[in-house]
Amino acid sequence: MSTVPTRVAVEKAVELAGHAPSLHNSQPWRWTFDGAVLRLFGVHERMLPATDITGRQLVISCGIVLDHLRAAMAAQGWRTLVATFPDPNDHAHLADVRFTPSRYVTDGDRDRAAAITRRYTDRLPFGEPRDWAQFQSVLSAVVAAEDVIVDVLPGSRRAELARASALSASLRRYDADYHAELHWWTGHVVADAGVPRQALVTEDEHQRVDVGRRMPVVTGEARRPELPTDRSEILVLSSAGDTAEDWLDCGQVLSAVLLECTLAGYATCPLSHLTELPRSRAVVTRLVGRNVFAQVLVRVGTPPDAQVRPEPTPRLPLTDILQVTGDAG
Ligand SMILES: Cc1cc2nc3c(=O)[nH]c(=O)nc-3n(C[C@H](O)[C@H](O)[C@H](O)COP(=O)(O)O)c2cc1C
Repeated sequence: MSTVPTRVAVEKAVELAGHAPSLHNSQPWRWTFDGAVLRLFGVHERMLPATDITGRQLVISCGIVLDHLRAAMAAQGWRTLVATFPDPNDHAHLADVRFTPSRYVTDGDRDRAAAITRRYTDRLPFGEPRDWAQFQSVLSAVVAAEDVIVDVLPGSRRAELARASALSASLRRYDADYHAELHWWTGHVVADAGVPRQALVTEDEHQRVDVGRRMPVVTGEARRPELPTDRSEILVLSSAGDTAEDWLDCGQVLSAVLLECTLAGYATCPLSHLTELPRSRAVVTRLVGRNVFAQVLVRVGTPPDAQVRPEPTPRLPLTDILQVTGDAG
């Protein structure tokens, strides 16, 4: 049995992992493979400096793609050994991934990889997540051993969160750089990146989701009219520190959370506008009641039964995100 995966196996996994969500679909990652080690780099040119001032969400997005890669390789019979920040002189070099053959591929491994392309960001209102108590137990088992804390926002705190969401929009009303960036990245697709029009919502739909990020709105017939208000649950992912290591960890846990939600049949929407500005971030931190750094929130709910999945948001071609070198080339 071979002790390293083939180039084809790695290409397949990187392609699948590339379906990971990222801030405004910026896809700020690049991989290299030399036949033994798969290296992950953050791409600074794909950072959104007016929205993501410190590059925190760039690293979180890369953490998601890293965990997606792990899931994609597991489904092909490979375990991954990940060393994060392997080069102290190069902070863009986020991880080195090595592989060992696994003895068995479980149905769970296959299901998790299949969930990668089923997941998408849904910005419409959700119904209450079905069997939520049971799901919470599954979720705590999935994220139990991690440094990232996942809290469920108590329903009694929702109105305050909605006010913090509105506050973040007001604080940004005159931030021309933020708006220029938002309009550049959303409402159309340029070179296979950005949020396409069909993924956006109308003004009425935005009004029904009290905690959504204000993005350019579209026109069209009201979708999900049977849901006058959003009945989602809100997960808050936080970490004890606020370093690049914490962000990468947070991304990996966010990936696990999103895939687990997808497996349970839930719709999801990551929310980060609430943690981009210190004032609204402080509110989120206070609402979870811990001395932590709130990183990202996720809206989770049950979509109506007759849900038609919109056309998938595009992704960069494999040749733009993977470079194969040396012996593997
Ligand atoms: C770190 C991060 C922050 C995000 N923030 C938001 C947000 O505030 N509001 C939103 O509607 N979507 C948000 N998203 C979702 C992205 O816009 C979405 O993943 C991307 O457009 C790709 O689309 P897909 O998830 O449907 O594949 C975020 C995603 C990530 C990874």
